[in-house]
Amino acid sequence: MTRFYVTTPIYYVNDVPHLGTAYTTIVADAVRRYHLLRGHETRMLTGTDEHGLKLEREAREKGMEPLAFVREMSGRFEAAWPRLEVEADDFVRTTQERHTVRARELWKAVEKSGDLELGTYEGHYCVGCEEFKTDKDLLPGNVCPLHKRPTEWQTGETYYFKLSRYQGRLLALYAQRPGFIEPEGRRNEVVSFVSGGLKDLSVSRTNFSWGIPVPGNPRHVMYVWFDALANYWSVLQGSATLEAFWTDATVVHLVGKDILRFHAVYWPAFLMSAGLRLPDKVFAHGFLTYGGQKMSKSLRNAVDPLAIARAFGRVTGSEGGGADVLRYQLLRAVAFGQDGDFDQGAMIERYNADLGKNLGNLLARTLGLCAKMTGGKVPGSGEPTALERDLATAVEGLRAEVLEAWDRLEPHRALEKTWAIASAANQYVDRAAPWAEDKKGNKARVEAILRALLAVLGELSVLVGPALPAKSAEMREQLGLAPVRTSVGTDWLARQAPVRAEGEPLAPGSPLFPTIDVEGANALLAELVPKEAAAAAAATGAATATATATGAATVTAMATALTYEQFAIVDLRVGLVRTAERVPKKDKLLKLSVDVGEPEPRTIIAGLALSFQPEQLVGRKVIVVANLAPRDFGKGLTSQGMLLATGPSENLVLATVDGDAGPGARLK
Ligand code: MSP
Repeated sequence: MTRFYVTTPIYYVNDVPHLGTAYTTIVADAVRRYHLLRGHETRMLTGTDEHGLKLEREAREKGMEPLAFVREMSGRFEAAWPRLEVEADDFVRTTQERHTVRARELWKAVEKSGDLELGTYEGHYCVGCEEFKTDKDLLPGNVCPLHKRPTEWQTGETYYFKLSRYQGRLLALYAQRPGFIEPEGRRNEVVSFVSGGLKDLSVSRTNFSWGIPVPGNPRHVMYVWFDALANYWSVLQGSATLEAFWTDATVVHLVGKDILRFHAVYWPAFLMSAGLRLPDKVFAHGFLTYGGQKMSKSLRNAVDPLAIARAFGRVTGSEGGGADVLRYQLLRAVAFGQDGDFDQGAMIERYNADLGKNLGNLLARTLGLCAKMTGGKVPGSGEPTALERDLATAVEGLRAEVLEAWDRLEPHRALEKTWAIASAANQYVDRAAPWAEDKKGNKARVEAILRALLAVLGELSVLVGPALPAKSAEMREQLGLAPVRTSVGTDWLARQAPVRAEGEPLAPGSPLFPTIDVEGANALLAELVPKEAAAAAAATGAATATATATGAATVTAMATALTYEQFAIVDLRVGLVRTAERVPKKDKLLKLSVDVGEPEPRTIIAGLALSFQPEQLVGRKVIVVANLAPRDFGKGLTSQGMLLATGPSENLVLATVDGDAGPGARLK
């Protein structure tokens, strides 16, 4: 038996749930559901971080007592997650006594090992981050690069945690357990930070009182991060069943890249000091951006996940279905670990393609064929041919890849492979052509084909469960299958799901994911694109033309007709990419030098970085809009043209030419 414990960060309640915070919570839930299907004993914890200067101030600004303020705001998080089909086992609030009592125990354990020392501090404090910053962390004017606001100079008495003592032990931990921090790039950053030397950490405050009083010295409250990190462990204490999720479980913390240091350096050091077991993995994911900017309250570009679930709920017939659509988009479109740009237009395209045309259509057409050819009942098992055997082998191989991807915390890949199963089945129907066999009166053949399809669909109904819990249940209902009931020790994913007995009824229903037409898409976009965000996206959009609506744009029907003369104004050239490199601090952009047949290659800045490694582009032929006015990207970067591409920003396909058209050849 395996025990699996997954946590999300606990969210500051100065904000309401937005797509960025929904993202981690949905990933954690999907991973939890995967482990449940494997028959593991699982637990997921989420919650809210309710102490600290930031929240004390926010409450006062609203004319409220901090306790009343945090209670109200925390309620919004607790109410939001179930509406995204998230079923956490527990929701912690750091103002709860069950937490504060144990956080004080942790403090005492750290004190007992001699790692706390009274001293004084002074420094630049970012209230948004709840963290002291060094000069080199800051932008001119002592501005925090994350919150874009000036830091405050703070001084006072504090307890220091002797973090400097833990440098060696932390480095040994990272070396002995390479999977402790993932992805690898992030691990390297932490290793180099710790190798550079660790300063002792100020872990208490006297300049405000909204926190957990320090045991034995109530003039001090605990530093909000000491208090917050303790939550993962605190809420498991006091019950042997729960404690086992710390002492005898695989413990995985999912966190955003901005808070990795707290989890991968401070947290294990606190635990080592207190003599407690360490987690197994801290996985740092990237940011969801909007038009290239981190989505956040302070940047006023946050997208409301509940509004998306509601809107797609109307399309799919249930709020759960709407949540599933959002979950699919976040899990599939963003490579877990990297930044991902959210784009409502791309979401609709993906919805139509992956959910509607691929999975939904496979179910509808199979059940439609059964209705017509086998009286709406499960067919008997005709003799399988090479076609059925090939399909089964392909599915078997893909299923193994799906499981491997979930195990490696790669939901995007797990879903890619799951949907490859649906594609394989769709191709199989076309090849096997049951309609032709039916016409020939070949009943045994028809039955073999439809049975093979029902087998794949039964399997898919389980495999899609972590991402699409509501639609997984609906699929099973239509297939006449009993709901998936997970139990410890029963692995639903280890083997091919059995097909039901001949003659049992199928129950086709409405389409799982009805197609959204152009009009419907425009209505959805008008509803879902926040106005402030639309402006932000328009201001920062990168110089790549895509067929996808980015941010503020709408999905449109074919554009109005042009005369040839009008078209000829656009100078399209074949370009050859000579060099490509990343643009520092711009996650989406690549800087390319592209030969378009002129004496010097052109510099083109393109929003390709979410889809390509720079080296993948070198030597590629591309199509360049060569007479576009140069565009200034700041910091001395000017783009002298634009590349043509299509698809969502994390999955772009470049337009190119066949044959031997050389650099500079004009397209007309
Ligand atoms: N309260 C602390 C965490 C304490 S954990 C012991 C905190 N809270 S937060 O609400 O500011 O952020 C919580 C998490 O949300 C972080 O992991 C952060 O990376 C994540 N995100 C906030 N905005 C985000 C995006 N736009 N995209 C992805 N994740 C983002 O930090």
